[in-house]
Amino acid sequence: MTGIETTESTRAAAGPVFDYAPAPESRDIVRLDPQYGLFIDGEFVPAAEGRTFTTINPATEEPLAAVAEAGPADVERAVAAARAAYEGAWGRMRGRDRAKYLFRIARIVQERSRELAVLESLDNGKPIRESRDVDLPLVAAHFFYYAGWADKLELAGFGPQPRPLGVAGQVIPWNFPLLMAAWKLAPALACGNTCVLKPAETTPLSALFLAQICQEAGLPPGTVNVLTGAGGTGAALVSHPGVDKVAFTGSTEVGKEIRKAVAGTHKRLTLELGGKAANVIFEDAPVDQAIEGIVNGIFFNQGHVCCAGSRLLVQESVADLVIDRLRERLTTLRLGDPLDKNTDIGAINSAEQLDKIRLLADVGSEEGAQRWSPPCELPSRGFWFAPTIFTGVSQSHRIAREEIFGPVLSVLTFRTPEEAVAKANNTPYGLSAGVWTEKGSRILWMAQKLEAGVVWANTYNRFDPTSPFGGYQESGFGREGGRQGLEAYLDV
Ligand code: NAI
Ligand code: MG
Repeated sequence: MTGIETTESTRAAAGPVFDYAPAPESRDIVRLDPQYGLFIDGEFVPAAEGRTFTTINPATEEPLAAVAEAGPADVERAVAAARAAYEGAWGRMRGRDRAKYLFRIARIVQERSRELAVLESLDNGKPIRESRDVDLPLVAAHFFYYAGWADKLELAGFGPQPRPLGVAGQVIPWNFPLLMAAWKLAPALACGNTCVLKPAETTPLSALFLAQICQEAGLPPGTVNVLTGAGGTGAALVSHPGVDKVAFTGSTEVGKEIRKAVAGTHKRLTLELGGKAANVIFEDAPVDQAIEGIVNGIFFNQGHVCCAGSRLLVQESVADLVIDRLRERLTTLRLGDPLDKNTDIGAINSAEQLDKIRLLADVGSEEGAQRWSPPCELPSRGFWFAPTIFTGVSQSHRIAREEIFGPVLSVLTFRTPEEAVAKANNTPYGLSAGVWTEKGSRILWMAQKLEAGVVWANTYNRFDPTSPFGGYQESGFGREGGRQGLEAYLDV
């Protein structure tokens, strides 16, 4: 937020207000090509039909590059290349040798992480502080972690000689482009599968950079293929008969379509879909820490997070205190240039996503909830949405039920732990939840009662490659991460 305007009372509470000097990371760190091809069989090639699309910087709407759009003939070639690698070099390789390639990829990611972080922020709009300090370290950690499993699969608990599945078709979204690529590729490769990855149409660049890293690491051609394109490319990939395993992260709507497309085939399927997580604050919670957890829960990555703590459930006795403190804290958040190292809130990823957030926020007001944002100047170009909280939200409001996938928090209250559980579970989703309380026994009780794949206690949005992640109900099925994440890529 430029030129922070705070009320006198928040000023007094927050102490003196300092101005920040701009601290931009240099965008020259990364060299962009004007045009990018598909990565098939170890080489970059144009799309068979010659089609391309433009990927833009959502913070400025400036075009970044033209990217090849894969059609059915390209899907055919990529799946054939992946099959050949599976029956050839990669499929025959011993686990301990696959591990060396994964370690090599992890090391190159680390060496080039500054470039990759800038590229990710340019193409996605997320703050450099997040791409640099969260996304990139987790990407490397994921490859390191699964490298360690590649020669120990018989110890993973899935039988004495677990076999890979074959060719994996993997479709990923735009909110964590490189991290989702790592979540998909690392376990698949560790288990001995080959991959055809389809990144999202608004964020194709970091996956193509990762393809270059695969080349640099000497990965046998065809082991990893990257097909850029939109929903049509993804649909052609998941329905290709040569694909043995489909892994998808994205909207529940598309997840349901994919489930229909693979029904009745031999394909194995895992889906990681949306969420509407409850972040539950009890009256005995340490308030300052909880405020940081609430902010991290919903404003991290502009709220473009499937496990975002988008429903705040506060115990009634502390609701006013928590909401006041939260408002104070929001006035200190800085929105703007994603490449500025002081930026907390970057750009919304696309015009479509911005429209969706605006629509649902308007519905929130129309349905009678009270909308509040800190004083906040939005840049004139690009896609932006001020951090927003709605109070007076009831369970029937659309903003309490639907995934907004933006920096919008719906605040509800509760009186008893039983009521907190009932409200938290009143959702078709079930991906994650947060609990804030000083009482250890209450944390365990809540973790048992909450229908969510991940329950964080006195923290939020923590990730680690050793820890399995995934959902219940409409949030999907299958687990990614940890020993459990191997199961999706083994014939068990
Ligand atoms: P989406 O589900 O359409 O896109 C995700 C990926 O699926 C992209 O790579 C896309 O090209 C691909 N895709 C689209 N249609 C496909 C099809 N028929 N077959 C195969 N692949 C297909 O998500 P979108 O439209 O970008 O976002 C819409 C909403 O979905 C968001 O507002 C958010 O609520 C939710 N979402 C949830 C995500 C999560 O991590 N759980 C990630 C992205 C979006
Ligand atoms: Mg879409």
